[in-house]
Amino acid sequence: MSDSKTSRKIAVAPVDEFPAGARMEVKVGNVNIAVFNVRGEYFGIFGICPHQSAPLSRGRLQGTVICNADTNWEKEWAHDGEVLVCPGHAMEYDLRTGKAFGYGMKLRTYEVVVEDDWVTVIL
Ligand code: FES
Repeated sequence: MSDSKTSRKIAVAPVDEFPAGARMEVKVGNVNIAVFNVRGEYFGIFGICPHQSAPLSRGRLQGTVICNADTNWEKEWAHDGEVLVCPGHAMEYDLRTGKAFGYGMKLRTYEVVVEDDWVTVIL
């Protein structure tokens, strides 16, 4: 949740121009934010891969296989359409959390809302 007294809002696009499956990039100062519409749900994530600066707005979206105590150590397809693959060297990021799969790093994520028919990033 954002704090409307202190948050800053960045309009990305009219909602009817940002359909499911689309992605866009907005630049706020010198920060790039990649914004995705996954099945009608919007996600915002820091847009530059910290490895070698590839633009994450151009990354492929997919799922991933998980295998852990939660899955009883059985392989299970998870996060379908919410795993962002860096177009540089294929590091995978969870769009919901910003966490890199298999690495101890996390990208900043941003709340994205529809306000007055505009897709809007909350900073
Ligand atoms: S630039 Fe993203 S993994 Fe290398």
